[in-house]
Parts: sequence; C-alpha cells; structure tokens
Amino acid sequence: MTDFIPGFGNHIATEAIAGALPVGRNSPQKPAFGLYAEQLSGTAFTALRHENRRSWLYRLRPSAEHPPYARYEGAKLFAPGTVDDPLPPNRLRWDPLAMPEEPTDLIDGMVTMLANRDPASLEGVAVHIYRADSDMERRCFVDADGELLFIPQQGRMTLLTELGRIDIAPGQVALIPRGVRFRALLPDGGARGYVAENHGSLFRLPDLGPIGSNGLANPRDFETPVAWFEDVEGDYELVQKYLGSLWTTTLDHSPLDVVAWHGNLAPWRYDLTRFNVIGTVSFDHPDPSIFTVLTSPSDVPGRANADFVIFPPRWMVAEDTFRPPWFHRNVMSEAMGLIHGAYDAKADGFAPGALSLHNMMAGHGPDVASWKGASEAALKPHKIEGTMAFMVESCWAYRPTRFALDHAQPDYDAVWGGFPKAQLPSR
Ligand SMILES: [Fe+2]
Repeated sequence: MTDFIPGFGNHIATEAIAGALPVGRNSPQKPAFGLYAEQLSGTAFTALRHENRRSWLYRLRPSAEHPPYARYEGAKLFAPGTVDDPLPPNRLRWDPLAMPEEPTDLIDGMVTMLANRDPASLEGVAVHIYRADSDMERRCFVDADGELLFIPQQGRMTLLTELGRIDIAPGQVALIPRGVRFRALLPDGGARGYVAENHGSLFRLPDLGPIGSNGLANPRDFETPVAWFEDVEGDYELVQKYLGSLWTTTLDHSPLDVVAWHGNLAPWRYDLTRFNVIGTVSFDHPDPSIFTVLTSPSDVPGRANADFVIFPPRWMVAEDTFRPPWFHRNVMSEAMGLIHGAYDAKADGFAPGALSLHNMMAGHGPDVASWKGASEAALKPHKIEGTMAFMVESCWAYRPTRFALDHAQPDYDAVWGGFPKAQLPSR
C-alpha cells in the first residue's frame, strides 16, 4: 500500500523517517541522521519560475559515490540507434512482440522501435516496447537521455524509484523523470507495454484555451508517491542510458536510498480512465489534439516535440458526419499503440500491443472495412466502449530501428487498397 499525493508538478515535501527533511533550508551544514543533501534538476537552474522543476533528495549516500561506468553488453535491442539509410515514406505497422523465451527483466526486455532525434540534441522522442517476465533484482536503471512515460499493455508493474513506489496496471501510465533511478517488479510475471522516452522539454498538461479551467487530464488525478527507500548493502548493478548507449556500474549498496525529498520534480502515475473526454455534440470529428493528455512543447509555438494522446471510450453523437478519425496527411508524425479493445479506424491487424507509424505527410485514415462500416452506419448516439488506443505524436519524423524495419507487417499498405472510386455526374 502506497500513499500518493495528488496534483501535477506540485511542490511536495515528504519523509519516510520523521525528522529526515530539513526545515526552512535545503542544504544544512549537518542534515539529520548524517543524510546527504542532493539537488536533482529537471530544468536549467534559470528556467522561468513556472517551468522550473527540481527536487532536493536526502539520502544515505551521495549518488556521486560510484565506480566508472563500462559498456553494458545486455539489452541488444534497446537503444541500438536507428537505420541511417534513406527512409522510405512508407506507413509501417507491427504485430505485438512475442514474450521473451528466457527469463528477462524490464531493461533487457526493452526493444527500441522508433526514434527521431539524437538525445544529445535535447529534443525528440523515442518509442520502445518492453516485454519481460522477471523482476529487476539488485539492479536499477537510470535514463540520462530523457523522461520515461510507461504505458503498460499487459501485466502489472511496480516501479521502485528513488522518490517513491508506484504500482500501475494496463490503463494507467507512469512517468519517471530524467535521471531518477528505479527498478521494476512484475507481479503478474509476463508484462508488456510501451515506453515514450522524451528527450525534449518536460511533459506538461496542455493549455485548455476556450475549453476553460477544467477538462482533459485534470491535475488532481496525477498521483506522486510519498518518500520510500531501501537500505540494502552489497553489490547492486546500475545500468544507465546515456547519449543513446547503455552503460553499467556496480555499487556496494542500493541507490534507492532517498529517505526524504521535497520539490516539484518527481515520478507520478495517472489513470487514463480519469481523462475527461471532450468531443463534438454537433458535427465533424475534432482534430485529435482534443485528446491530448500531455505535451512536450518544441521551440516553435504550438508545434509539439511530443504529444501523448489517447483515444478513450466516448459517445459518438455527431449528425451527418463520418464519425471515425478522418483521412488525413499530417505535418506531424504519429506513432500509435493499442492498450486494449479495438481502434475505431482500424478493424483488423492492429491488436492490443501492436504499433503503427504514420510519418510526416503519409496519407492515412480508416481502412476500407472501417470506412465502409462508418459510411453506412445509422447515426444514432453510439458509445465506443472497451478500448484505449494512444498516439505519441512528434514534429520530428520517426526513424525505425533495424529490428523494427525487419519485423514490420509486410502488407500494411493493403488496408487502404480497394476503395471504390467516387462517381461524378455525367458531363
Ligand atoms: Fe493520424
């Protein structure tokens, strides 16, 4: 049982041992119990106040105490870099990845599918899929390249982080900030899901404009765990992703030793069923930006480095309207996944756990069967139920990894074959 504090980006103060947290200052000469005070920055020191994110950690040992890192030889499919060849402008789709045949933990079970910038550029996003069946025992992971948004599709996951303990199940998501060490336990054994690794500006809630002061993902539904730590001596591996490569070192203690912390940079979880879905009550399907849960802005106003968008259960009531998401060609690039159910623009071939890529200017939209069904449907109020698809949309076109290119469905283009030609009046 874990206690959570509600809110998004709030300034929180929490201690697992009474008296561990300094009062009225961040770095006293002698912190309580001989703890070490350490600041973890999520933004530049001088970021604007409303964007400034950092936390102060009070720990058993400073995180600086570690031997040099060496290249990590496991997780061959995690962060291998993308294919450098000229990228065909083809739409791509992947079936759900099979579960591993050997015991595999979260880190070794990570498969990088798509990435669109060098992490060193501090922008872009990568999409990974994990499939694993084993707990991370006496080893932790830390990502220097970005924050990690976990999107479980199958199996529960417990994320033991420096700042607290988070339990999530499919239908929930969790975010681990850049630089926060954690390990994952898989209480159901087999687990599979997606990870959006955001190299750019921190995910935040989108502005609401004329929607007003409530709606979409509401801040109070984000849950940050209270302080939790483990006091474990002995060998403990720490694997780090750094500038696109994996590195390892061995500590003589668990790095999850933060007894207290305060600040506004912290992991959280969010239940996607709490999303307040807003759509048309007259005609036309709005742009899918109406379904944005989180956004990572780029330097260009209105153009996201990454948007996390969901397609949740909702009522469809539009009159004289083709109700599913329409055909389009988008200057943004779209990676889509499915947590459960069926996506209303793709009747087949897109199972839970699957992934699709519609890059910049790739024509896409409903497949023939979905188009035909929606074109002929009686337009009564209808509720789409039992489904949760998502999209990680980016202004940067994605490049697949070699593994992804070699495992794509061979015939995805065929779903847009066989549309009947429009019939003009005789001239
Ligand atoms: Fe699209």
